[in-house]
Amino acid sequence: MKKTFKEKYGPWALVTGASSGIGFEFAHQLAALGLNLVFVARRKERLDQLAIELQKKYVIQCKVMPTDLSQSDFLSEIKKLTAALEIGLLINNAGFGTTGELLENDLETEIKLLHVNCRAPLILAHHFGKKMKNRKKGGIIFTASIVGFTAVPFWSNYAASKAYDLFLAEALAHELKDHGVDVLALCPGTTKAEFQEIAGTRMLMPMSAEAVVRRGLQKLGHTYVTIPGILNRLNVLSIKLLPNTWSTRIFGRIIRTIRKTPGS
Ligand SMILES: NC(=O)c1ccc[n+]([C@@H]2O[C@H](COP(=O)([O-])OP(=O)(O)OC[C@H]3O[C@@H](n4cnc5c(N)ncnc54)[C@H](OP(=O)(O)O)[C@@H]3O)[C@@H](O)[C@H]2O)c1
Repeated sequence: MKKTFKEKYGPWALVTGASSGIGFEFAHQLAALGLNLVFVARRKERLDQLAIELQKKYVIQCKVMPTDLSQSDFLSEIKKLTAALEIGLLINNAGFGTTGELLENDLETEIKLLHVNCRAPLILAHHFGKKMKNRKKGGIIFTASIVGFTAVPFWSNYAASKAYDLFLAEALAHELKDHGVDVLALCPGTTKAEFQEIAGTRMLMPMSAEAVVRRGLQKLGHTYVTIPGILNRLNVLSIKLLPNTWSTRIFGRIIRTIRKTPGS
């Protein structure tokens, strides 16, 4: 008999970046599937509120882990909180972007971006992935991006960080496929979230976080890389067909156009 999503990836899921946008939506859709949830992000009040709301609506348990994923020792508290829990699904989703000429941006912020977007998902996948491999059961989703498929001027570090997420997820998917663990790189294009406000860009034909997450949960276990939305798939197809310098130039122009300048 076909296993349910909860049987395959439950009983607990850990979602990073659950306080907003795509992670918030992951929390809602996973709660509806009956998984117990651990929420990780910095804004505790938002996570507390989310836990109250979902526990009222569904028969599930939620735990809140206020954590700054850019901190070097962030794993120790997460390890303590989850020691007795079977985390069958890891959603490596927290992240942020910076916009502008790399050399004019603050270096500390760029390094922090690498810690949150790359170092933290690596550490969490290593920790929870090992347990899943031993149990021969589980799933890991990395929220990458369509910009992970090409170099992007004015998003140099951010796009490179998403290329890391994409390639790490895809390679890990191959390594773990015979061990009962499914890994997926979810590669959204512009999605309604707080991301743009923080990165300092305007939204360009955004998709809903609801549609992005639905696609991710549908595709887990069926493929290794997924791109929500037909326009985003066409974008990636054009990246693959065009010479690298062309797609890099086109994406650079787009980012320059949607970049918010003071007063815009
Ligand atoms: N929105 C888009 O257009 C888009 C497109 C492609 C890919 N993505 C990717 O989607 C993922 C989710 O972003 P989003 O679009 O949903 O944006 P968002 O609404 O800004 O959410 C980002 C989440 O990451 C968390 N986060 C940021 N820095 C953190 C830190 N230092 N420690 C712990 N948590 C941290 C935030 O929580 P706190 O602030 O509470 O810590 C928040 O929950 C990111 O990886 C992003 O790169 C977004």
